[in-house]
Amino acid sequence: MGFRALGVTCAVFVGVWVLTSGKDAAPPTTTTSAFCKIIWLIGVPCTEVNSAIVTQIKAMGSYTLGSVTSMAVQANHTSGVGQIESVNFTMAPTSVILGCHVQGTSVSAVWYSLFDNGINFCNLRNVIKGSGLYKAPGFLEFTNEWLCLGCGFSAC
Ligand SMILES: *[C@@H]1O[C@H](CO)[C@@H](O)[C@H](O)[C@H]1NC(C)=O
Ligand SMILES: *[C@@H]1O[C@H](CO)[C@@H](O)[C@H](O)[C@H]1NC(C)=O
Repeated sequence: MGFRALGVTCAVFVGVWVLTSGKDAAPPTTTTSAFCKIIWLIGVPCTEVNSAIVTQIKAMGSYTLGSVTSMAVQANHTSGVGQIESVNFTMAPTSVILGCHVQGTSVSAVWYSLFDNGINFCNLRNVIKGSGLYKAPGFLEFTNEWLCLGCGFSAC
């Protein structure tokens, strides 16, 4: 009887702890600009991913290539008059042989609307699509409405 009661108490305690710590561990992300973050897993070496992204950005007129290192590519994208987004791609080798983990972020330089019509999503998506990397073996893309404004309803 006593054991059973203790068990129930523990379960309630654990439940409360999980709820509380979950709330503390994931505070709502506040931002003053429209933004998008996408994570890709691509089954080719990061050096190839890097050069494919750089080549694609150079080929697209609306992008201005910034600094490029072996693990990071920066660019600006102009989506309209006075509308510039900062676009970054960072690469890290995965534990899987020859794989590359890529994180893309796009942030509007000027806050003009919380609803960005998927511009930041498309800034990232168009580079990966145009580069053909989406056809690489093991290609996976991760994002959602919490990480990427407009990802659910934009057509790039
Ligand atoms: C990108 O835009 C920012 C802010 O407008 C500017 O400071 C930076 O020099 C630009 N970078 C490139 C590569 O154009
Ligand atoms: C891209 O990287 C630069 C330099 O680290 C940083 O200033 C900028 O805020 C980053 N942009 C995004 C969209 O993460």
